[in-house]
Amino acid sequence: MARRSWAEPYKIKMVELIKMTSPEERLRAITEAGYNTFLLRSEDVYIDLLTDSGVGAMSDRQWAGLMMGDEAYAGSRNFYHLRDTVEEYYSYKYTVPTHQGRGAENIISQMLISEGDYIPGNMYFTTTRLHQELAGGTFVDVIVDEAHDPESVHPFKGNVDFNKLNALLNEVGAEKIPYVCIATCVNMAGGQPISMANLRQLREWCDNNGIMLVHDMTRVAENAFFIQQREKGFEDASIQQIVYEICSLTDAATMSSKKDAMVNIGGFLAMNDAKLYERACALVVVYEGLHTYGGMAGRDMEALAIGITESVDDNHIRARVGQVEYLGELLKKAGVPIVNPIGGHAVFLDARRILPHLPQEQFPAQALAAALYLESGVRAMERGVVSAGRNKDTGENYMPRLELVRLTIPRRVYTQAHMDVTAESVIDVMERADQIKGLRFTYEPEVLRFFQARFEPVN
Ligand code: F0G
Repeated sequence: MARRSWAEPYKIKMVELIKMTSPEERLRAITEAGYNTFLLRSEDVYIDLLTDSGVGAMSDRQWAGLMMGDEAYAGSRNFYHLRDTVEEYYSYKYTVPTHQGRGAENIISQMLISEGDYIPGNMYFTTTRLHQELAGGTFVDVIVDEAHDPESVHPFKGNVDFNKLNALLNEVGAEKIPYVCIATCVNMAGGQPISMANLRQLREWCDNNGIMLVHDMTRVAENAFFIQQREKGFEDASIQQIVYEICSLTDAATMSSKKDAMVNIGGFLAMNDAKLYERACALVVVYEGLHTYGGMAGRDMEALAIGITESVDDNHIRARVGQVEYLGELLKKAGVPIVNPIGGHAVFLDARRILPHLPQEQFPAQALAAALYLESGVRAMERGVVSAGRNKDTGENYMPRLELVRLTIPRRVYTQAHMDVTAESVIDVMERADQIKGLRFTYEPEVLRFFQARFEPVN
């Protein structure tokens, strides 16, 4: 049988109307927002590709789950459903719900990190690194070099470089490394997967050195899809099987369920060690809520449990990543420089190559995201020097090699025609790229500055 194109394995039952804006309205909106797309009102956005977080469309089953919320303060039925689902699909024995991913990051960082520790990871993520630093640790990037090169077509750019990991081990010793933090489908690298072979090797390395392995499993299903497509031996494995195996190779996990699991809010910390679970329960009551709800309503835990089962469906994930690839291919065909290979949750524009006239000090990716909004009302996100922030010790800007604009595709929300319009908009912006001006700060928050910073054009 001939291979057919991907198509969504669902049909649309309800729609949300969106507003079209004029160029004048958009100029006013982006000026008021200080050239930061995070500060735009959603009402002023036409196609919202800011993030894939909390913006997915829930299924009718998930909506039905909301009606089954057991809003007891303690021991909600939905908590037990969630806990059992996490164990069945993700292998982890103990689950502590949190209000979202960073709630889980806070708890795991406080439990495991002591002042002066080092936490190796396959590239930083903004909130993850901040919680490691707030707990007294220092993040060390041990991802393969290819991950920092937008043009490299390495199939597993999320892999760990064991030379870097061993160099750290030799320098600081195992007692200063509480755990290795491994993300599946690495966000900041462009939605790039880690291979099962690399993960298995990492498991062995951790066992040999008595170091824990913590999994940022926010986009584990998308990682599983790339393993199924690219890694020998997994052609016939289901996404569900691959996801389970990935999780089994790790000791604990933080989850932002607003991504893969397609709920609007929520997350959890999961683990296999009973003692660690006891400590997490003691901390979650301080920062989130009782250990059987964390920061979540009963109904949200129910929708999450159902979302997990839908997220590992082979047809779902093929269409999900298929849509991202569709947009990426349109841009590639038009000669727009993007991160290769195309990632799982987003297409990343290479702002360095699109705006070669702007030095990194003038925030090319931030300027490009603002220009795209002005052009068409498409909202994207900066993932470059603004997101990278400043070194906590020296106060200097981190200058990441990747200076990117992320076109993030929400799950089950937009159509192929929306992808067409997005591509046309990006291509139009490219054509007048030399007229785009750099930016400078008018307000710079101390931490996670990209969320609320304000800018003005440099003349
Ligand atoms: N880890 C990864 C890899 C993430 O992408 C995110 C969130 C988090 C942790 C934190 O989870 O937002 O639920 O507290 N990423 C969003 C994004 C914000 O747009 O990439 P959270």
